[in-house]
Amino acid sequence: MNHPNKLRALAHGATVALFLLCGPHTPARAQDARTSLYNPSYSSTITPVTAKDGLVVAQEKIAAGIGADILARGGNAVDAAVATGFAMAVTYPRAGNLGGGGFMVIHLSDHQQAFAIDYRETGPAAITRDVFLGADGRPDIAKSRDSALGIGVPGTVAGLALALERYGSGRFALKDLLAPAITLARDGFVVTDDLADTLPDGMKRFARWPSSAKLFARPDGTVLRDGDRLVQADLATTLEAIAEQGPAGFYQGTVANKLIAAIDKANGIMSLDDLKNYQPIVRKPVRGSYRGYDIISMPLPSSGGIVLLETLNILEGFKLGELKQGSVDSLHLLIEAMKRAYADRARYLGDPAFADAPLKRLLSRDYAARLRASINPDKATSAKEIATLQAAPREGTNTTHFSIVDKDGNAVSNTYTLNFPYGVGLVADGTGVLLNNELDDFTAAPGASNAYGLVGFEANLPGPGKRPLSSMSPTIVLKDGKPVLVTGSPGGSRIISAVLQVVVDVIDYKINAAQAVALPRLHQQWLPEEVRVEQGFPDDVLAGLKAKGHAITGGLGQTSANTIAATPDGWLGAPDPRTRGATAAGK
Ligand code: GLY
Repeated sequence: MNHPNKLRALAHGATVALFLLCGPHTPARAQDARTSLYNPSYSSTITPVTAKDGLVVAQEKIAAGIGADILARGGNAVDAAVATGFAMAVTYPRAGNLGGGGFMVIHLSDHQQAFAIDYRETGPAAITRDVFLGADGRPDIAKSRDSALGIGVPGTVAGLALALERYGSGRFALKDLLAPAITLARDGFVVTDDLADTLPDGMKRFARWPSSAKLFARPDGTVLRDGDRLVQADLATTLEAIAEQGPAGFYQGTVANKLIAAIDKANGIMSLDDLKNYQPIVRKPVRGSYRGYDIISMPLPSSGGIVLLETLNILEGFKLGELKQGSVDSLHLLIEAMKRAYADRARYLGDPAFADAPLKRLLSRDYAARLRASINPDKATSAKEIATLQAAPREGTNTTHFSIVDKDGNAVSNTYTLNFPYGVGLVADGTGVLLNNELDDFTAAPGASNAYGLVGFEANLPGPGKRPLSSMSPTIVLKDGKPVLVTGSPGGSRIISAVLQVVVDVIDYKINAAQAVALPRLHQQWLPEEVRVEQGFPDDVLAGLKAKGHAITGGLGQTSANTIAATPDGWLGAPDPRTRGATAAGK
């Protein structure tokens, strides 16, 4: 990922011309984002869009357009989310999926209620707590990341169907919302943008499963490139089975038999019963407030909402707005707050069906005050001082987020994933379904280091029917009961800090959401004891942070906070410019 130098100027207050870069996919009625600050040279794919009646901001333009079309045809935000989610399983195979899982946070304006749909993958019934250990009793990362043992029971199909049934407008049947995805899979579409950029690396993940690699290859065996057509006939047939039979078309019968045959052949442990028994769960979102705004986010088994709220609770006691955005003093407070909340993530959080977490305490104002008091404004607190040897469980690196609002003020914030880009790399023969390696989000052994030098913990050990702890943080911010910000991101453990920085930049620094999304981000997750930064921070700021005792390292992995913010006249869509293809579509 690259941040051109101009972004540095953008981040630190230089005068920047106002521009709108409307790509060919911007709907005709979309208006200019005239109040948005943009660096025009940052990315040719930035398409900020303002809209009155509804908006979809997603990582892939065809799927965003499909969601926007559903809104235009009278669908609500949930209808659009379901159509977009299924379309991205076709057009954005590195993270859009049928074979993975995710979380959807929904705000319904007429009832003033919010819901969280947990469609996270689960451990198969045959999983044991030492499944990811090698013969020497030590964690064997290849088992959870690169083998069929890492495949969790997929939740996406059941989760999207449940969202539609409970919270859709009633104007669209599941099959109506699947129709565009079926056409795209059957007829194919032109490879471009992020798909073209990531398939060469994806081919390395497919290498273990030749039939998977073939799907994304030209007849001569080389990887598909910009301008080639990706046709997924088996995936079209799978989507048709879901359209005809509902989730049973995926979790039972022909498709299920093929999924299990492929997993068996790859020495996995999932059974037909695991598929048949999969259940998404409607949960109460976690809620908190920050400077007069209500924050609604994902509860366990995601750590996202809890860590976000805990961090915001700590920060609320500081007058952040009086410090300059991006200044050493402001960033130091963000880092120190993150560090403390991530340490609690490591120590306490896991699937709530298996481990009790002291949520009341973690989210209390008193506890935040105590953590705040432990922050030295001049000096980084060491990880050791914060706690003993527990640390955040390891995280995957790829996921995708989309945000949707409709004309009635309903909002959907959805993050879903296969974990790694292209998951485990196995497309189950005859189904077109690319399978996840989500179980790598479990901790392989208590106290053991993983590939990143991180230490895991008891609450997140593998277990049958258990959901691995996640960081996905689909979030909706309300003011006076109305959505003002809808956001989320991919990026494993960095998801939470990305969402945090968007929220703080918009609320504390009153920065336009499009600009806030583009600003360089940093990340601290307690252990390892380092602050990872994107390019774009000025040298004097990095030097100032070092002087306070922070170990700064570059190469912060990719996040992509596709965000929507309310404007006086409607909505502003802020696709994240970090990768090619993110789009805002609406009217
Ligand atoms: N697989 C990334 C996450 O759920 O946090």
